[in-house]
Amino acid sequence: MVDYKQIGLVNTRAMFAKAVDGGYAIPAFNFNNMEQMQAIIQAAVETKSPVILQVSKGARDYANATLLRYMAEGAVQYARELGCPNPQIVLHLDHGDSFETCKSCIDSGFSSVMIDGSALPYDENVALTKRVVEYAHQHDVTVEGELGVLAGVEDEVSHAESHYTKPEEVIDFVTKTGCDSLAISIGTSHGAYKFTPEQCTVDPQTGRLVPPPLAFDVLEGVEKQLPGFPIVLHGSSSVPQDEVDTINANGGALKAAVGIPEEQLRKAAKSAVCKINIDSDSRLAMTAAIRKHLAEHPDHFDPRQYLKPARESMKKLYIHKIVNVLGSNDKL
Ligand code: G3H
Ligand code: 13P
Ligand code: ZN
Repeated sequence: MVDYKQIGLVNTRAMFAKAVDGGYAIPAFNFNNMEQMQAIIQAAVETKSPVILQVSKGARDYANATLLRYMAEGAVQYARELGCPNPQIVLHLDHGDSFETCKSCIDSGFSSVMIDGSALPYDENVALTKRVVEYAHQHDVTVEGELGVLAGVEDEVSHAESHYTKPEEVIDFVTKTGCDSLAISIGTSHGAYKFTPEQCTVDPQTGRLVPPPLAFDVLEGVEKQLPGFPIVLHGSSSVPQDEVDTINANGGALKAAVGIPEEQLRKAAKSAVCKINIDSDSRLAMTAAIRKHLAEHPDHFDPRQYLKPARESMKKLYIHKIVNVLGSNDKL
């Protein structure tokens, strides 16, 4: 049993309470490799932001669960080395799919877990989430539950259709499960193709696809039911069109990739939404930088030559999200 407090990590409780009060959101960035982790920590230290490092099942399969856990422990030391004596870093399981996965993360030093029972019938979601909460709270690990289904086509967590969260269910769910935060569905979805072209309008000036707005009425309904309770938004990448263009100009073929406009995320971050999940934007920034670098330097073959600009590009993206979208800078 690894105690996350011993390795300098924190859970989400105090962090979320401050974020809800302060009208900003904590960035939850997925990481799968060292360069992403370095970029996240550098960005968080430079902006003095708390940060959630999230690990998906896909990341655990790709990188190895033990290595990722030690990388997070290293991240705390790295932040201190970069000049931040008391970093606020959460190690969070993203989309935990079973009690066993959550338990294994809790036992190995995670400070927060998500149990994603959103695709289950309501009563089964309640029972599973409650079981995870009971175990997690014995170790002061915080738990994110989910109500409502996000659509998505790219990840292991994909569903063909989305179902918005029903505000009338949230009090019952939170009371029965005891979860510490709640992910809701208001029209975001995972991956770089969040909306079909048919769901969008076309901006006559730029020719770009403009997605439909998020269901802020659902978010307001949830906030009314659970005043001050920490709400989480998944699928919150904005799919920057300059990164998509760079990818496509350098041999890529991303057609009609579209994300959540940043002004909508800014609005959400000022509300009870206190955790915003971003993964795809980092993937796009990394891929664009690598494609561009290799196209410009066909003779390069040392991975450090192309991973360095990729890391710089991700860091720039993370800083932009923290400072210009979520508002979590200068909160340490
Ligand atoms: O929610 C999904 C995250 O973007 C993680 O994706 O399962 O491909 O690692 P992944
Ligand atoms: P994006 O695919 O929009 O980055 O969402 C990531 C996410 O929700 C991780 O849980
Ligand atoms: Zn997600």
